[in-house]
Amino acid sequence: MARLQAGSVPRASLFPPRFVVAAILVALSMPLVGCGGGGKRHRPARLTLYCGAQLEWCELASAEFERETGVRVSMTRRSSGETLAQLWAERRNPRGDVWWGGTGDGHIQAAEAKLLEPYRSPRLGELHEWAVDPEGRGLHHTTGAYMGALSFAYNRDWLGKKGLDAPRSWADLAKPAYRGEIQMANPASSGTAYTVLATIVQLLGEDRGFAYLEKLDANVNQYTSSGAAPVRAAARGETAIAIVFLHDAVVQKSAGFPIEVVLPSEGTGYEIGCASIIRGARHPDSARRFVDWILGSRAQELGARARSYQWPSNRSARAPALLPPVASVGLIPFDMGRFGSKRTRARLLSRWERQVRGGAR
Ligand code: G6P
Repeated sequence: MARLQAGSVPRASLFPPRFVVAAILVALSMPLVGCGGGGKRHRPARLTLYCGAQLEWCELASAEFERETGVRVSMTRRSSGETLAQLWAERRNPRGDVWWGGTGDGHIQAAEAKLLEPYRSPRLGELHEWAVDPEGRGLHHTTGAYMGALSFAYNRDWLGKKGLDAPRSWADLAKPAYRGEIQMANPASSGTAYTVLATIVQLLGEDRGFAYLEKLDANVNQYTSSGAAPVRAAARGETAIAIVFLHDAVVQKSAGFPIEVVLPSEGTGYEIGCASIIRGARHPDSARRFVDWILGSRAQELGARARSYQWPSNRSARAPALLPPVASVGLIPFDMGRFGSKRTRARLLSRWERQVRGGAR
């Protein structure tokens, strides 16, 4: 009988042949990094997304993109002015890959400050003209992903109880009858509120516009930091009137709150919500992949599932049924390039702080 000696243990008796084959197959199926990856596990592709749309839509888009592509998404939602400040603070050590959502003025200013990477998505040909080059310089630092029009919304129970008429125009909002009844966001942090500022200046001219904003200020009970917050407050009965994007107001109305939505009779301004690749992105492939994905019609139609009812930029994407057609809304000609430029934006914001807020509140 053969004796077993140290060092000569018959392998077959410890590892049956079927086990060995299975182990080899498992080892071969494990992705390695490069040739001779030293057994290191393959790292999944990643994306750091700075999102400026509504949180529900940011979360759904992140999850769906991750499910479809396997790219792991780390997402943070911030208002437009806040993301712009963050990109500037991180300019020497960028941490984000893509900025998607939020009003175009912020993206345009980021492009001007060299915080964005030019990118011509192969999907440009699928987009409405307004989305192809919001910057208007042919440089393609940013691309339009959706459009939203400004409106205001009021709580009909509140106005009914106080015996107040429903406002119909920008001019109405400045009437003394609405003292303390209106909420809007702060234009320094919120792209929605900056769009209000830019709209008023384009409708009335700068000096008359600021005189109007001073009167409006007397009626404002709070400037929130995020753009859509005022209409949530109006829905809960915490303020009578909210100046917000139409699609953010429609969400509250369709959820059954006593909200009525008004498109101001003088005409109204609008946003182009943008998608941009951040300069120095750590994951440029994932960044391009995300931008191509979010400009696609399938991704854009998902927005309605997160109750985000902006008009999509892809011509094949169905517009949410709850919104009127763009052509019927009374959009004013809006100079995105000028109002997104640092010069104009910084000047209007500091004049607003000085003349309208005056450090009073
Ligand atoms: C909401 C809207 C978006 C818009 C964004 C701007 O989320 O649904 O369409 O782009 O506001 O946010 P901000 O907080 O900067 O006003």
